[in-house]
Amino acid sequence: MSEKNDETLANLLKEDRRFEPPADLTEHANLTADAYDAAAKDREGFWAEQAQRLTWAEPFTQVLDWTDPPFAKWYVGGRLNAAYNCVDRHVEAGRGDKVAIHFVGEPVGDTRSITYAELQDLVSQAANALTDMGVAAGDRVAIYMPMIPQAVVTMLACARIGAPHTVVFGGFSSDALASRLEDCQAKVVVTSDGGYRRGSASSLKPAVDEAREKAAGLGHTVEKVLVVRRTGQDVAWDDSVDVWWHDAVEGASTSHTPEAFDAEHPLYVMYTSGTTGKPKGILHTTGGYLVGASYTHWAVFDLKDDDVYWCTADIGWVTGHSYIVYGPLANGVTQVLYEGTPDSPERGRWWDIIEQYGVTLFYTAPTAIRSFMKQGREIPDARDLSSLRILGSVGEPINPEAYVWYRHVIGGDRTPVVDTWWQTETGAIMISPLPGVTAGKPGSAMNPIPGVSAEVVDEEGNAVPNGSGGYLVLTEPWPSMLRTIWGDDQRFKETYWSRFEKLGFYFAGDGAKKDADGDLWVLGRVDDVMNVSGHRLSTTEIESALVSHPKVAEAAVVGAKDEDTGQAVCAFVILRDEAGDGGDDIVAELRKHVRKEIGPIATPRQVMIVPELPKTRSGKIMRRLLRDVAENREVGDVTTLADSSVMDLISSGLTSGKGED
Ligand code: PRX
Repeated sequence: MSEKNDETLANLLKEDRRFEPPADLTEHANLTADAYDAAAKDREGFWAEQAQRLTWAEPFTQVLDWTDPPFAKWYVGGRLNAAYNCVDRHVEAGRGDKVAIHFVGEPVGDTRSITYAELQDLVSQAANALTDMGVAAGDRVAIYMPMIPQAVVTMLACARIGAPHTVVFGGFSSDALASRLEDCQAKVVVTSDGGYRRGSASSLKPAVDEAREKAAGLGHTVEKVLVVRRTGQDVAWDDSVDVWWHDAVEGASTSHTPEAFDAEHPLYVMYTSGTTGKPKGILHTTGGYLVGASYTHWAVFDLKDDDVYWCTADIGWVTGHSYIVYGPLANGVTQVLYEGTPDSPERGRWWDIIEQYGVTLFYTAPTAIRSFMKQGREIPDARDLSSLRILGSVGEPINPEAYVWYRHVIGGDRTPVVDTWWQTETGAIMISPLPGVTAGKPGSAMNPIPGVSAEVVDEEGNAVPNGSGGYLVLTEPWPSMLRTIWGDDQRFKETYWSRFEKLGFYFAGDGAKKDADGDLWVLGRVDDVMNVSGHRLSTTEIESALVSHPKVAEAAVVGAKDEDTGQAVCAFVILRDEAGDGGDDIVAELRKHVRKEIGPIATPRQVMIVPELPKTRSGKIMRRLLRDVAENREVGDVTTLADSSVMDLISSGLTSGKGED
């Protein structure tokens, strides 16, 4: 374990607050304590039972085929349609008038409620339109959209026709979009002219135009671009490629028969950062993923028919996939979908929405909670939040103070907080309290949920005793597990399964600790992946972006502790000789460059121009030392440095820049 994690570990040992589940919740809980035992006794039987939550066109004949690890096949022989499960079957069951989505646009008053029957029509129309545009089962469709209903509709339409989607977060740059279009060979892109963010219309279509050109430069042709008119801003138009949504979709037939696909048919590819510069296309398939998303959403949020659910994630991340689209809709939920930022037009916007729609289940990220804590409790206190009954947290460790504030100020001390640990790769929640069973501890994700087997192990893969830290692993396959990295089975094996190959464990990349009771505390990444506002970024990816700037010779990036965003990007840069001191604006120039190459979320908080980087004798950059500098700590042990005077050079010669945006 690194020094950083040891320090966190020591702090966490002091936590002794406990919150028992409310009695009425326990009494009516969807999942009770016996589920842990039942699942442990017969794991596959347990997952076979959970699969009955779905409607199968063809029943499966085998729960799990694990004869060729790490390539799993779940629900062998089963056939189903994911969109049918998320939409049509609820209509067929007489629930067509139930609201599926309360859409709230960022401009105040721009709202629309969509019932399951209406959603069925919209998804059918989009499925027909995509088919007319030449998309067939197996073709990939990229989605680059704001948080508007058409984004959800497009994902479901793709699922309906068996065309795996890849949703690219709207905050990513055209370069990032182009590399993803090329990697998964997307045939069609669905986008919009733009969306509303922070009170004004931002644009998306120009980035798609650029990305299409860049992808062409990489040898890949995007055939069509389907464009929703959201803001009405002017867009460049190419008649041979661009198609308006209101022409193609709104005119299409509302009748469409969903085809059943094999349980292992690819459902989507979600790109995520790894330890190298190239993002990984995480592949999820249909049956197992949908079982995992549906079961966990029902169990962890104790979902009841009259709940109003709201997950604030963006559909460009896995949380939006599993806990806005697939899990909740498979469960026939009524949910809020909000387009904009928490502070637009003013800071109480989220709480207004909760009050207005009577939200009962709320799922957000620690970074948002911390920013509300900073703004003060008067803002939420001025709203009626008494409808809330369960609060969820995801994306990064939630510090105990933020947990307690969330429970106390937002939840009025009534609501359990479920700190849910999972990853793009796991597809669904793996470790979390159960709201009707677990006595919560602030800061702890507690235990693997029934059906999931997790452990904290040492270098050799032995389970560590209570009170110790180690590597977080999943010891048994699970239905919503990633199946591979798109187009790169070898990288899939190496990244996740080689570390504890003999034991067959999946290594998550996180460090964790078991406390004296054996409950789990996730400490964060042990590899070169950062977590900024709950978003994963790879140090190498940002380093590559920096080095692509003509003035940069070498770059090292670390994630430094940040009060607001959890971690922040700090870059150490050596300039090329011919660039001299880089000029007055060098820091701003480099920050802008990273923004353009990757997107605003990757913009370094600090860029430090340095004469040297600390390296071991084998040439490996010692990020631990750079983290010390970035976090203003005394620099640690430098004995393994090839040149131990380097750290003095860095500390004394620093010209650092801190940006505003
Ligand atoms: O480090 C863990 C952290 O986020 C990583 C997964 O990021 P991503 O694939 O982008 O998925 C985010 C949404 C699931 C993990 O490896 N992480 C996620 N949830 C938690 C967490 N760390 C601590 N506690 C959590 N609840």
